Amino acid sequence: MSLIIRGGKALKGMVKCDGAKNAALPIMAGAILSEDISIIDNVPRLRDVSTMAEVLRALGVSVKVTGNSVLINPGNRLHDEAPYDLVRMMRASFLVMGPLLVRLGHASVPLPGGCAIGQRPVDLHLKGFQAMGAEITVEGGFAKARAKKLKGAEIYLDIPSVGATENIMMAATLADGVTVIENAAQEPEIVDLANFLNSMGSEVTGAGTSRIKIEGVKTLKGTRYSIIPDRIEAATFLIAGAITRGRVTVENVIPTHIRSILAKLKECGAYLLEGPRSVQIEMRSRPSPVHVKTLPYPGFPTDAQAPIMALLSLGHGTSLISETVFENRFNHAEELIRMGAKIKIEDSNAIVEGVPKLTGAALQATDLRAGACLALAALAAEGESEITGTEHIHRGYSDFAGKLRLLGADVEETGLPKPVCAVR
Ligand code: UD1
Repeated sequence: MSLIIRGGKALKGMVKCDGAKNAALPIMAGAILSEDISIIDNVPRLRDVSTMAEVLRALGVSVKVTGNSVLINPGNRLHDEAPYDLVRMMRASFLVMGPLLVRLGHASVPLPGGCAIGQRPVDLHLKGFQAMGAEITVEGGFAKARAKKLKGAEIYLDIPSVGATENIMMAATLADGVTVIENAAQEPEIVDLANFLNSMGSEVTGAGTSRIKIEGVKTLKGTRYSIIPDRIEAATFLIAGAITRGRVTVENVIPTHIRSILAKLKECGAYLLEGPRSVQIEMRSRPSPVHVKTLPYPGFPTDAQAPIMALLSLGHGTSLISETVFENRFNHAEELIRMGAKIKIEDSNAIVEGVPKLTGAALQATDLRAGACLALAALAAEGESEITGTEHIHRGYSDFAGKLRLLGADVEETGLPKPVCAVR
């Protein structure tokens, strides 16, 4: 699959964001904490969502996707083993471990392995389960956990890992007693998961701070819940407006979720107009150079690092990008260099010397956000670019090409995938 983009058009108009991928995935996993049916609304139609649906089906759960709603009926016959092929495709599949363990007393989930952006271990998830009394072993590539009844515990995370916070939080909802997660991740998606769990009857407080308290309850019930908007999709379209020196309004975004991104875009020289659930961006000149350092929320998100690198590569000065969350997340830099960008990578820093123009080229997307970065660069470049590996983009952006076309971009897609969320 590839995207063909003929660059040089200023994007103009309005685009509406879908629900957040990174909220939908843990919430789908969390739905199996109850035997009852839950319905989740505002779910984006993405490949990763289909993968999570397949993981749940492989565990014996009935999942029906209709438009942007997902009906999950876990029932009382869950299997305890997640299949390797699916977990390998998407690490977020590991999030079924906490719910399975606390519901069944045992769970067997493949270790997800490395990925294009770094090593990404799951040791903190497992340490959390262990602290709650689970016996953990690693056999044949699977992490196996066993505990008759998980017990509440005080858990300090060495790193405020998003996935570990979510997995432990879910397991703790049905554990005996109180669990406290210290140095917890504070991302809006954590708050969304906590709200979802509380709508099922759990007792989670403190989500959105570094200390989350979960009082275990006996059972959880089914619920209906609507997911928050995707802040990274919003950031990507705002940058699309800025990089093409256009004027774009992004709707269905919660501006407080993207404070760090808006601050950097403003420093770059963008004009921003905020509504309660929208942001308009206008950019009239080359961006001013800035220093971007990725950090856990509320810092600048690592998922927006590649997109902003595309913008800064056209700056009128030298920007510095420091990546502190993942150790190998500069794959997109090599491809930007092939378009004429001047970027030097030194350990976890990228020194981006702005150039007046980029030129279209044949490009390869190596991961989701790298794909978005290359598409953004191609929109601003002179001439035509063909980006291959766009199945990565389909993992995280629904109808990316269609939305760009609505803004006036000259984008074609070849080798379209089958619809990823067919009604089943
Ligand atoms: C989630 C997001 C991903 C985002 C990332 C950081 C989802 C589905 N994905 O991924 O888009 O880029 O947060 O904001 O929500 N770590 C350990 N041990 C662990 C767990 C993590 O060392 O057990 C390290 C990782 O290698 C990484 C850092 O902690 O360096 C942050 O990872 P984490 O927050 O766990 O990211 P994910 O939950 O995988």
